Amino acid sequence: MSDLNVELCGVRLRNPLILSSGPLSWNAEAIQAAFAAGAAAVVTKTIRPQATRNPVPHIAAAGHKSLLNTEGWSDLPAQQWIDEELPALSHRDGVLIASVGHTAGEVEQLAMPLVQAGADMLEVVSYRAEDAAPMVTAAKNQVSVPVLVKVSANWPNLLEVVDACLQAGADGVTAIDSIGPALRVDVETRKPMLGSFAWLSGSAILPIALGTVAAICLRHNVPVVGTGGVTKAEDIVEMVMAGATAVGVHTAPLLEGLDWFGKALAKLERWLDDHGYACLANLRGAALPHLGETPSHAPLTFVFDPEACTRCGRCITVCAYRARQLLPDGQMALNESRCRSCGLCLAVCPTGALRA
Ligand SMILES: Cc1cc2nc3c(=O)[nH]c(=O)nc-3n(C[C@H](O)[C@H](O)[C@H](O)COP(=O)(O)O)c2cc1C
Ligand code: SF4
Ligand code: SF4
Repeated sequence: MSDLNVELCGVRLRNPLILSSGPLSWNAEAIQAAFAAGAAAVVTKTIRPQATRNPVPHIAAAGHKSLLNTEGWSDLPAQQWIDEELPALSHRDGVLIASVGHTAGEVEQLAMPLVQAGADMLEVVSYRAEDAAPMVTAAKNQVSVPVLVKVSANWPNLLEVVDACLQAGADGVTAIDSIGPALRVDVETRKPMLGSFAWLSGSAILPIALGTVAAICLRHNVPVVGTGGVTKAEDIVEMVMAGATAVGVHTAPLLEGLDWFGKALAKLERWLDDHGYACLANLRGAALPHLGETPSHAPLTFVFDPEACTRCGRCITVCAYRARQLLPDGQMALNESRCRSCGLCLAVCPTGALRA
């Protein structure tokens, strides 16, 4: 059995999965359910002094395991989290991370009471890049528990914000928040879904999250909670190989139910066993040394297995240069003078009949 334990900012997690901040962590009961389902840590819905009032409706399907939302922070006031919700989690089986925002002043006001109420760690978050480092300073001045800062790929200067946050004493980085402005239009009503611009989460943002995590980890040896678009076990492995220490997720369990945690963890263990890896943590950053490699210009060489080929034609359809042809005898013809070695035919072959 592979070892799924990871250590985040000196805190042991029984597996890499963290339920990131959102509706599934809206109160103590929901957080307890997430721990019971297998999340090693849970980040509360973002806590601010006053409760928010969300527009109706505020979550919509964006297609392909992705969501749009216009949800604000917690619809419970901070005092309820401090007096009732966090104390109700005192017998939890996991690490409790309180998300607090969105300004340095609010963090100054809430950091200590949230930790006294039971939070094991804090995650500071804001929509505005310029608030990030001052929020870290405010938190570090108040508490001795680890402080994560959540960063957004919407910020053009994200890496400089990370530099400033680490200088301010952040113990780790959560990357990334949902991305916007995003939009879908209901073509029947001609109106924007959710009535306005929204935030995008889920599968659609996975490559952006991976790119951000890797860019941060190439620059700093710092614990990163890789978050955004993880929907299956292989995505967890990818996040870790991109440099993440732990992996945050919200859209997948929101769409598929909390059972998602148990299923993803079982598949993760099986994947690691099948590939002969004893410990997930050892894969951390495995992809990073390859990021600076000089690209090859040698033409691709192809291996075609007619036994595995279902003659689906995908490899032919996607070839912009019309270089491929399936022959009546089951063989595949390649016009080498047309082929530009782009690789797309390899990427779409569903059976592995076509390999490099
Ligand atoms: C409906 C919804 C509400 C969210 N609310 C918060 C929030 O209050 N605070 C926060 O830091 N992130 C919030 N997020 C962002 C998630 O924590 C996460 O960073 C983002 O959705 C990317 O992860 P995912 O693709 O696994 O969902 C929310 C996400 C969703 C879908
Ligand atoms: S590598 Fe690209 S150009 Fe060559 S056959 Fe495949 S899809 Fe066509
Ligand atoms: S995509 Fe793969 S399975 Fe489909 S025709 Fe091409 S080689 Fe055969």
